Amino acid sequence: MKVLFVCLGNICRSPTAEGVFRHCVLQAGMVQQIEIDSAGTGDWHIGEPPDRRAQMAARQRGYDLSSQRARQVTTADFHIFDDIIAMDHSNVHNLRAIAPDSEQEKVHLLLSFHPESDLTEVPDPYYEGGFDEVLDLIEAASQGLLARIRDDMAER
Ligand code: 4NP
Repeated sequence: MKVLFVCLGNICRSPTAEGVFRHCVLQAGMVQQIEIDSAGTGDWHIGEPPDRRAQMAARQRGYDLSSQRARQVTTADFHIFDDIIAMDHSNVHNLRAIAPDSEQEKVHLLLSFHPESDLTEVPDPYYEGGFDEVLDLIEAASQGLLARIRDDMAER
């Protein structure tokens, strides 16, 4: 099972989601079954580590994002990954534009897996901040996503 998290720059939200979800998978003892990566729809930050503010907020909760480097999502990713998890509606729009017809259904909004939030998008913290709220949303939705993946695996 391969999961790709996608945002705009791949330096704030999707690296956070990668780090949080990796931690969930580790805790669940499923490292052998689930591969995780992240990417951005934009190309501005390719090769950069996650934003310093995202790294700091994550580190306070025990997630180390420091080894991650930004990359841009490609059409090939749709053949490699089983789930492509977007942070907001514009990510979904940009992903659908490059997805092969046969792989369109792999794209989901992360917050569709949140158990209770009315929000549909993880707010972009790059200009306005709000890294702790981003972490709260991603932590809760990651548990929901992992539960869905476990159900899928059990059915196979
Ligand atoms: P992200 O945040 O999509 O969560 O990584 C952003 C990072 C960079 C930019 C926008 C959003 N930017 O415009 O450079």
